[in-house]
Amino acid sequence: MSRTRSSDVLVVGGGIIGLVTAWRAAQRGLATAVVDPEPGGGAARVAAGMLAAVTELHYGEHTLLGLNLASARRYPDFAAELTELTGHDLGYRRCGTLAVALDADDRAHLRELHALQERSGLDSQWLSGRECRRLEPMLAPGVRGGLRVDGDHQIDPRRLAAALVTACERAGVAVHRTWAERLVVAGDRAAGVVTADGTELAAGQVVLAAGSLSGRLAGVPADVLPPVRPVKGQVVRLAMPERLGPFLTRTVRAVVRGSQVYLVPRENGELVIGATTEELGWDTTVTAGGVYELLRDAHELVPGITELPLTETRAGLRPGSPDNAPLLGPTALEGLLLATGHYRNGVLLTPVTGDVLAHALTTGELPEEARPFSPLRFRATALTEQPA
Ligand code: GLY
Repeated sequence: MSRTRSSDVLVVGGGIIGLVTAWRAAQRGLATAVVDPEPGGGAARVAAGMLAAVTELHYGEHTLLGLNLASARRYPDFAAELTELTGHDLGYRRCGTLAVALDADDRAHLRELHALQERSGLDSQWLSGRECRRLEPMLAPGVRGGLRVDGDHQIDPRRLAAALVTACERAGVAVHRTWAERLVVAGDRAAGVVTADGTELAAGQVVLAAGSLSGRLAGVPADVLPPVRPVKGQVVRLAMPERLGPFLTRTVRAVVRGSQVYLVPRENGELVIGATTEELGWDTTVTAGGVYELLRDAHELVPGITELPLTETRAGLRPGSPDNAPLLGPTALEGLLLATGHYRNGVLLTPVTGDVLAHALTTGELPEEARPFSPLRFRATALTEQPA
């Protein structure tokens, strides 16, 4: 081993979840380091940045809804603090969302979602097709109705990531631009990592926040390794030229032939269309089929998109967990914490994750709101799955 450097906290992974954890830990006076070859990269380079606690509500995910709403409530202060500290505009837009139906099946599905939202005490309003088009004149004439959710906003994840890199630098976080290759375990506790160049980074506590890669760090005992898998999402980006006038004023989404499609218009003229959901392991190829389906479905919602310049296509990997909820806080290995498995909600859950992990790192415990998301909930399964 070439050198040893020490910190109180070492965060493995410099995506938005790792960065917010490092920033909040450093703010609490912990000497903090991040190890990542490209801090600010990862799934945030691809994500559309919808803050969609209400429109992405799913059956059986009520506990997750509580955490999603807690994070959504923190967003205004979180964004203001980050902007004030770094000078970065985050593209945080309190624009609301309109979820629409294109045919009778979609309409029935959306009615069910509306009923679930109402039972859950959430704010959403049913609109006729005509009312939807009055709000968003570019919508297809065939739109049969929709849900107006004024509380589901958006942020630009690339700007958020860049601001978090700056915030970490300002807070004195040390950044090691390399891969973490292996967790070091000494005396039954996590004690740091060895990096690709053979450096040992020693730490009092290690946070594994490497997104979909979190289950792959060598040296992590099998019963502690997070059950996280990559779930591919392809996204396309278009440009909305100013001369065409306002194109969309809020996020518009729908389920078309069983697939989610959303259009997220940014203030800077970018229109993000996402996203496929593909269980294809580590594949991040942008495929003709993926792009075709996104554009076909988006075109059914908003026919005018075919006039817009296509500027970018990308694929990223969501960190999926067995119950679609994140794994937050201490593991059964002393000194090792997790901040991963955020699946479809990484951008939304960024503020609450930073606060929860900072609390866990300073007190050794999870705050009340995060207890259902302890990694220990999967431990019983991991132990039964061990070979005899
Ligand atoms: N939350 C949107 C997505 O994961 O596609």
